[in-house]
Amino acid sequence: MDSRINISKADGIVDVAVVVIDNPPVNVMSIGVPRSILAAVNRLNDDDTVKAILVVAAGRGVLGGADIKVQGKAWPASEPNLIDLVTALDSNEKPIGILLRKIAVGGGLEIAMSCRYRIAQVGTLVGQPEVKLGIPPGAGGTQRLPRLVGAVKALDMILSGDPITAEEALGIGLIDRLVSAVNPIIEAAEYLSREISLGHVPQRTRERTVDTGDSQIFDAARVRVARRLRGQIAPVACIDCIEMATTADFDEGFAYERKRFLECVTSNEAAALRHVFFAERRVKKVPGIDELTKSRPIEKAAVLGAGTMGAGIAMCFANAGIPVTMIERDVQPLQGGLDRIAASYANQVNKGRLDEATANTRTKLVSGALNLEAIVEADIVVEAVYEEMGVKKSVFADLAKLAKPNAVLATNTSYLDVNEIAKAATGREQDVIGLHFFSPANIMKLIEVVRGVMTAADVLKTGIEIGERLGKVAIVSGVCHGFIGNRMFAHYNREAEFMLQEGATVEQVDTALYKFGMAMGSFSVRDLAGLDIGWAMRKSTAHLRKPHERYSTVGDELCERGWYGQKTGKGFYIYEKGQRCMNPDLNTIVESTGQAAGIKFAHVTDEQVIERCIYALVNEGAKILDDGIALRASDIDLVFINGYGFPRWRGGPMKYADTVGLDKVLNTIKALDQTHDFWVASPLLERLVNEGKSFADWDSKHSA
Ligand code: NAI
Repeated sequence: MDSRINISKADGIVDVAVVVIDNPPVNVMSIGVPRSILAAVNRLNDDDTVKAILVVAAGRGVLGGADIKVQGKAWPASEPNLIDLVTALDSNEKPIGILLRKIAVGGGLEIAMSCRYRIAQVGTLVGQPEVKLGIPPGAGGTQRLPRLVGAVKALDMILSGDPITAEEALGIGLIDRLVSAVNPIIEAAEYLSREISLGHVPQRTRERTVDTGDSQIFDAARVRVARRLRGQIAPVACIDCIEMATTADFDEGFAYERKRFLECVTSNEAAALRHVFFAERRVKKVPGIDELTKSRPIEKAAVLGAGTMGAGIAMCFANAGIPVTMIERDVQPLQGGLDRIAASYANQVNKGRLDEATANTRTKLVSGALNLEAIVEADIVVEAVYEEMGVKKSVFADLAKLAKPNAVLATNTSYLDVNEIAKAATGREQDVIGLHFFSPANIMKLIEVVRGVMTAADVLKTGIEIGERLGKVAIVSGVCHGFIGNRMFAHYNREAEFMLQEGATVEQVDTALYKFGMAMGSFSVRDLAGLDIGWAMRKSTAHLRKPHERYSTVGDELCERGWYGQKTGKGFYIYEKGQRCMNPDLNTIVESTGQAAGIKFAHVTDEQVIERCIYALVNEGAKILDDGIALRASDIDLVFINGYGFPRWRGGPMKYADTVGLDKVLNTIKALDQTHDFWVASPLLERLVNEGKSFADWDSKHSA
């Protein structure tokens, strides 16, 4: 008997047997589990005292479905799989019910839909998130869900991949009954027993017909997804399969779904999305901290500076329910920050994204102050003042004196040396950490948690935890100029600008990158972020540039004219009346700067745009890995997916390089090396190619 599957009874209910799936942590269908469930069901089929079978998941009650670890790999031919399981459950003579608790997604919901009765504990989430893993549901989800909730809702759920609550599921017919969280198994068993005794046995899902609604919905859905597809295949497969449920019988639709599932599950897209799924779980493993490391309690926060970042960061705290004081030196910038926060919440209310009561609560959590003493009660202080070492040092010297003992002292610096900033906090160096938010801070998912050489382990853990509390993906970075993200992104943008001088256009570069899957092209992003930010950084580091190094002055020339991008209406593009068009003066700047640097005009292909921009990321990413700045290649991938609009379905730049093949990437880099100073291949990349290894191999070796 498989210990992962047990048979029991609910107290006092004799005619219902309970099959418990106990495969921690989330009761997935690992090899052997479907076989054992079927064995248990068959045993109960032979037991005449049992009138109905109730399936439940043990532990927290999560029914995870397919095991992602074995997805895309061979399943032993002799072993029943998820398909065999749902088929057998659906055709079982003795009625089977299932109790869903907490979460039932993917294969978990597919199992549920092949049972006659679906009972859910209040608050349970159900959904088909497979598209987020680059596949359509593959165990009948695209055929059973539309039969239960109609094609329109099924399209909605399967294409978004987002779960719905059991309460909503009850309303649309996906769930038959809600039970309380007090005695869910007994309540569910009682319900089953009663229904059976009344002769209420629902039709099998596969025997139902699909409510299609408007037959145009599929074409409309194709148009909708086409805008954001850019090469992805899974969303289209989902639509095709659901449409099939409306035109073919169940068996034909089921076979069609299988075919499309198999096409998708072995695709690069699915492999990349699986990589991201595991990267997100692995990111929490950080050397030097573990479950024994006690983080510091954070109940109150303070933010220094009420500028672009300060106000956004204050909103992050307020959104998480943490009271925050924003501190400025003068009334005007403080009021400006408070006004922007109020306007942002009002805007969210107007757009229906936030209810008024919540907006009011959050607004009230933000207060303003003009004296640094206002930080004394804060458990964490985030500094977001000007990006100048002198200013930062003086602020941290004051913080060290004023902050309450054990308060975390964080800097939001984009580029500066966190170790040097920490030294200014005399006696409190261990409390200093970098918390690098991205703009707009209240929206962007990424936060780089910068660990200084003196940062205490509990401060690091607190930094990671607070990032998560603020709803961010927290990635640990070591100290270097620009940390992981900005250090790499500078190389990407450099190549984009070089290619302008070599004959590409702004539109060509941006379109090629957009088609590759980037949320925006290089120049669009820079115009949005503000060209002055990079300009200030380049000026402050000009002395570090090597004299022979190629350097494009295009961005600097734009800034010298006061063209900072969207905020001034002009940058690489012109922004007028909500429209974006070409900047006619740009050509002159590009040509004159290019000529002055002796650069020859040539034809740049879209393929070269992608190779040069993306491989610039990969090469620098490899150096960052080698330098010990990032803990894993997969962490770098998460930085780019969550902070720089890199397509998740390509898995991030390092995974993309693995997919292309590191030898091919290295060859291209070496070819570029002959003409461009920057393309010195990363020694790690060379080593990996020599050893026939990938970044994934490097990660496996280095994350014990
Ligand atoms: P900002 O210029 O919009 O705001 C800085 C604010 O700090 C100003 O309102 C200024 O009055 C205030 N300030 C200056 N000295 C102060 C002091 N001693 N005490 C209190 N307030 C003081 O600058 P922004 O863009 O918000 O940047 C702030 C920091 O965040 C910089 O270190 C920057 O590198 C970093 N950062 C900026 C990002 C961006 O996209 N703007 C992204 C990520 C980080």
